[in-house]
Amino acid sequence: MKFFLDSADTNEIKGALSFGILDGVTTNPSLIKEAVERKKSKGERINLDSYIRQMLKLCKGKPVSLEVVSSDYKNMLSEAETIFKKYNKVAKNVYVKVPVNPCTDLKCTNQMDGIRVIRKLSEKNIPVNCTLIFTPEQALLAAKAGAKFVSPFVGRIDDYLRETAHIKFDKSDYFPREGWKKGKWVLNDNGIVSGVELIKEISVIFGKQKIKSKILAASIRNTRQVREVAEAGADIATIPFKVLGKIAEHVKTVEGMNKFTKDVVPEYVKLIGAKHR
Ligand code: E4P
Repeated sequence: MKFFLDSADTNEIKGALSFGILDGVTTNPSLIKEAVERKKSKGERINLDSYIRQMLKLCKGKPVSLEVVSSDYKNMLSEAETIFKKYNKVAKNVYVKVPVNPCTDLKCTNQMDGIRVIRKLSEKNIPVNCTLIFTPEQALLAAKAGAKFVSPFVGRIDDYLRETAHIKFDKSDYFPREGWKKGKWVLNDNGIVSGVELIKEISVIFGKQKIKSKILAASIRNTRQVREVAEAGADIATIPFKVLGKIAEHVKTVEGMNKFTKDVVPEYVKLIGAKHR
């Protein structure tokens, strides 16, 4: 499974790149807002255009997703083309992020505009990351339209299941992959019992249908989900910096390091050229 960073913060991107395991970056309008506000709060001036270019250069050779913001076919298509034309020449690594369905209310009549945009962009060889996926059907549709990446939102489907059942929770709380039992029932959204199961179902369908689009598990909230989406068949997980930094953590690893460093004999220190004693 590939590891992407879910961030538009260049300091976080530099940090994650320094680990040597980063395969790409995803942004969204909220993450860009967060990064801009963080810079401004430190009294730094920000020119968003050069900031985005810097981000793309930092990630040369690794896909970076930049999202459209409108909710109709004409404007999403025009934004997608502008994003690609303006920024792909910087480091040839832009993926345009398009919502599977851009409607901002359930009565809207242009439910398929995201899919139409994806189809048009794929005809023009503009790579698309289809975002805001909450069902296997949406993933199937996005893949059919030509999306290179489909992004199911693992954490947000778990949020939704808890919200609809009026369960209090913290966003980083673990949600059981087999679902939340309530009496005889398991909470579910049209059969989907957790974000991880959503990934698993999409993975099974893509396998059976021989679909080439990559499954990008988004909205990851804790380290256990990283393990579970890998097992469920995600090709990529996009992970926030604070979660990425915790993956290597374990109390027994710390305990083990303390014991080993205490036990080192001086001869061994000399033999391997260790500097710390
Ligand atoms: C990335 O592609 C998504 O926009 C992001 O993972 C959403 O994460 P969130 O649900 O934690 O905001």
